[in-house]
Formats: sequence, structure tokens, C-alpha cells
Amino acid sequence: MRILDVAHEMGHEEVIVLHDAASGLRAVVAIHDTTLGPATGGTRMRLYPTMDDAVLDALRLSRAMTFKAALAEMPTGGGKAVILGDPARDKTRQRLVAYARAIERMGGRFHTGPDMGIDPRDVAVMARQTKHVSHAGAQSGVDTADLTALGVLESIRQTADFLGLELAGVRVALQGAGQVGYRLAKRLHAAGARLVAACDREGARAERLVDECGATLVEPDAIYDVECDVFSPNAAGAVLNSETIPRLRAKAVVGAANEQLSMAEDGDRLHERGIVWAPDYVVNAGGLLSLLHERGELDEDGIRERVKAIGPRVREILESAADDDLPPHVIADRIAHERLRAAREAKRARPLA
Ligand code: PHE
Repeated sequence: MRILDVAHEMGHEEVIVLHDAASGLRAVVAIHDTTLGPATGGTRMRLYPTMDDAVLDALRLSRAMTFKAALAEMPTGGGKAVILGDPARDKTRQRLVAYARAIERMGGRFHTGPDMGIDPRDVAVMARQTKHVSHAGAQSGVDTADLTALGVLESIRQTADFLGLELAGVRVALQGAGQVGYRLAKRLHAAGARLVAACDREGARAERLVDECGATLVEPDAIYDVECDVFSPNAAGAVLNSETIPRLRAKAVVGAANEQLSMAEDGDRLHERGIVWAPDYVVNAGGLLSLLHERGELDEDGIRERVKAIGPRVREILESAADDDLPPHVIADRIAHERLRAAREAKRARPLA
């Protein structure tokens, strides 16, 4: 299928391709849905095999932001951007500047911040060119990656409890020790959970989990085979697919990665195997919610409480899925669609100013 047909099918409002010959910037900004507010989502930097892969990632991730905002009751729409390239080699100041200027020209229709491969220091570079970024540098007051980790921790706590387990002693297999995965590992360790397996494609990032969190390292591909209570994906998307799901020896999957299911049917596959999947966009809303602190709407305690409420929300979804014998993603999607439908209706009913 051609890539813009995919965008059509997913219902995107706009897809913008950026190219700047002087800096070598190549990026894609996907605006999925602005019903609830300006399109909001992080900027990711990664190597993609082809341009189509990059566009597809932006399309999927921006749609996830629409759903994430709807479930978290954030006044934001769904958007996401990807910059093509290896963050370790290709992330030049010139490219970040060119990118940020393009965001500024969009006039606030898209608002962005850190994501995989882009950290708050990079956002600080962008912030000199545009107002439409959040979490520039550490001085923004809260650590957005840590708030994301807090939401995941509370989701693991509630999922464990749903399974009759306590967080202390729960066996976790952790995939990805980046900005969020690392902070989650530390929080899990502090709460008494056991990191029975951990991996990262970058060896040095995984290493620090051994010293700091007592983790046992495994090769990246072996993480799917580890016997554990919770498998926690915190890196790339589409890790739950027809190849990996039959291998899993986990009771539940709860992690921060966006777009964990390779396709919706994988949610059914997990359900058929009796593995509880906590829907990713519900679990990982802490980063998005942290905007409320930066915007002055919630103080430090307030934002922490709001992020912690992700746990009980996950719990409710798991309970109602169990009551109806449905996979949890079906319940979460239903709530998101319903909120979006109601908001669209309310917008239509409002007379034009
Ligand atoms: N990157 C975060 C996510 O994937 C969202 C985010 C947007 C964070 C804007 C900070 C600023 O959910």
C-alpha cells in the first residue's frame, strides 16, 4: 500500500516532509488529529531503512498520541515527528536548528519535545528557534522521562496486583535502558522488584543496570524467552508480533514503548495466550502529562499525583476487559474513540465565533 493511503486510512489531517539541503535535515511531521487541541508529541531520531519506514513510524506514533491524550484527558491532539539519522552520528546543531525553525513556521499547530534519540538538551537547542517545544533542558523543573517511568511503575504495580502479585518480588524482564527504561529500572529496583533480565542494544546502557539495579543482562533477542511475571518493553515499537508472542513466558506485558503491537491482532494473540497486556498509550502517558507542570497548571506534587493515577486507570481497563472476556486494548480503544467522538460532536454543535 502506498504510504499516503495508509495516512488516509488512519485518518491523518496532515503529513509534512521536511528537507533542508544546507544542514542535511530530513524529517517527517505527522499531524493525526487536532480535535482535542494542537497536535502534541515528541520528536524521535532514528535510522530508518527507507523514507517509507520513517513516514510509517510517524503515522503510527502520531495516532498513538491522539489516543494517549484522549485517555489521559489532556487538551492536546495527536502528532509526532521523526528525524532520519543516527542520533550518535548525525545529530548536528545545524540540523536541530533547521528542524526547530520549521516547527516555528507551523505556528503552533504542532508542539513537540523529547522522545527516543532526542533528549532535553537537544530540545534546549530547538527552544532558541521556536516556542513550540517543551522540556528544554533539565531546568524545566520536572524530569519528563522520570514521570513517564513513574506512570509505568504504577501500571506494573496495579497489573501485578490484578494478577495477585506484589510489586516487591515481582520478576521483570526489561527491554531498553534508555531515557525511560533506565529510570524505570531504578524505580523498580527501589520498590523491591527483581530485574531477572535486562537488555539494551547499546551495551554500556545495559551495564549500568547491573551495578545500580542488580539486573541480569541478556542478549537483546533473548529477552522474549525469559520466564518472568512482567515483560516490560521500553524501546522500539512493534515488538509484540507473530514471531515474539509465542515465545513469551510472561504473565503480563507493561512498558513505556509506544506502539508495542505490530498490529491490532497481536493484542488478540496475547489475550488468547492468557497474557495480560496493559495498553501502551495508557501506561506511558506520564511524559505527555508532564506538560501540565511546565504550563504551570499543576505543581510538583500535583503532577506526580496525576501521573500516579495512570495505575488505577490501567487497573480499571484490565478489570473491565476481564469482565467482558475481551483483550484490554479493545476496551482502551473504545474509551478513546468515544471521547473523540463526543469532542467532535461538541465542536460541531458550537456555533462558529
Ligand atoms: N514523547 C512523549 C510520548 O511519547 C510525549 C511528549 C510530548 C513528551 C511533548 C514531552 C513533550 O508520549
